[in-house]
Amino acid sequence: MTYEIDKSIMRCRAFAEAAGYTKSALALKAGLSTGTLKDFWQDHWSPTATTLRAIEALIPLGSTILPDVALAPMNKGLLTGQRILLIIGGGIAAYKSLDLARRLMERGASVTGVLTKGGAEFITPLSVASLTGHECYTDLFSLKDEADMGHIRLSRECDVILVAPATADMMAKMAAGLAGDLATTVLLATDKPVIIAPAMNAQMWAHPATRRNMTTLKADGIDFIDAAEGMLACGEVGKGRMADVMDMVAHIEAFFIKPMASNTSLPLPLRNKHIVITAGPTIEPIDPVRYIANRSSGKQGFDIAAACAALGAQVTLVAGPVNQPDPIGVKRVNVESAREMQAAVNQALPADVFVGVAAVADWRAVHDVAQKMKKEHTGLPALELVENPDILATISQRKQHRPSLVVGFAAETQNVADFATAKRKRKGCDWIMANDVSASTGIMGGDENQVILINDKVIDYWPKMCKKDVAEKLAQCIADHLENLNAARRFSAK
Ligand SMILES: Cc1cc2nc3c(=O)[nH]c(=O)nc-3n(C[C@H](O)[C@H](O)[C@H](O)COP(=O)(O)O)c2cc1C
Repeated sequence: MTYEIDKSIMRCRAFAEAAGYTKSALALKAGLSTGTLKDFWQDHWSPTATTLRAIEALIPLGSTILPDVALAPMNKGLLTGQRILLIIGGGIAAYKSLDLARRLMERGASVTGVLTKGGAEFITPLSVASLTGHECYTDLFSLKDEADMGHIRLSRECDVILVAPATADMMAKMAAGLAGDLATTVLLATDKPVIIAPAMNAQMWAHPATRRNMTTLKADGIDFIDAAEGMLACGEVGKGRMADVMDMVAHIEAFFIKPMASNTSLPLPLRNKHIVITAGPTIEPIDPVRYIANRSSGKQGFDIAAACAALGAQVTLVAGPVNQPDPIGVKRVNVESAREMQAAVNQALPADVFVGVAAVADWRAVHDVAQKMKKEHTGLPALELVENPDILATISQRKQHRPSLVVGFAAETQNVADFATAKRKRKGCDWIMANDVSASTGIMGGDENQVILINDKVIDYWPKMCKKDVAEKLAQCIADHLENLNAARRFSAK
């Protein structure tokens, strides 16, 4: 079925529901036989163009109910062919799930919606069906859907179930194994992975009952898209907002892509670890058109982000201005100056690991001039500089929320190991990855890198390899290190 026909079907359904037509009334009005519309609400309804034209002719010109956004071009993107069952619970954030569905579909996924009774208080089955192009299911005891055991079919005919928003109530029911409505029955009956994106008031989030339910659900193998902090719909501030839509998309991409990328069923050693990575240069304005910059391409940092995501990490990549594609399954935050980078990193914390790969400008112009500086014939303008914040040192020396592992990069042009060792001590980070960025090495902007990993025990010279291999090796070292830390904690707790 073509994209145009899909869109037309959704328009017809949206119109019929908004206008309150039953199938037979619609058929009568459009001059069609009732048999033609027998499966009007079913996925498999395949009308002729004449049928669609007859219904579309009833839609008033300029009608605003038409879901013009409807489907994104299909079969393009990382989620191509993936079937996602989206369960939408009864929270204010339900409206975001419409955008989420659209973004997932833009990436090629097919999305089918299930609305809880609570969810249907916030958005309608019509909007979900119109947007996804599939029937939206709401009722466990629907004769129509249950004649073929609809709840079992729904729970099996998908590749993943995504609950967004997952209310406190829904999590409690899931943890208790209740199955009193369609959503919870599907969740109990499924043999597919389940990802949930909680959303609730901060007090509900912090309540011991919710904490207990989360622990139970995690132990049951449910994957969480962590809630975010900030202003909540109820006006309070705290943790409990549903994650940003693009963060959820990144999480889901990562979920699908990782097993494909590794093509194995090996465990993902960085699963449930949050890693914040900076990459690229920063640029520091002199005036509105001129800036101070450096030659960093961002490639090494982007490769590290991709490699950590491939091992299961939740990655936030804070990137200066670079020409690099978004790594799969990574949340990318674009910044320009060092101060913006620092703010974005602070915003992304807490994290288990911080990797500072960015070539952050050491200095910026003292005066951020609002107008373009004019060429004067009286002499050269003085460029007065001031030091930028030292992001690596600040993170390394944090008293609160210091990541368990802080890794810095040292770009040197001489005495590489010595200067980098001194830098590690000065900044207070755990590891330094030192590399020689003299022009003759071609490392800055190139595809290869040769690094020395320095910590308080070893100076480990890695052979020259492509940046992707350096990234994969580093991601594995990080995973091993965290595993060792965990083992040590378990041991000392005994
Ligand atoms: C205006 C309003 C907003 C709500 N927002 C949330 C919310 O964000 N998170 C939550 O857990 N519950 C929220 N609730 C309570 C849920 O709607 C309620 O617990 C409901 O039973 C959830 O049903 P469900 O989990 O089956 O969708 C809200 C209720 C109202 C009236």
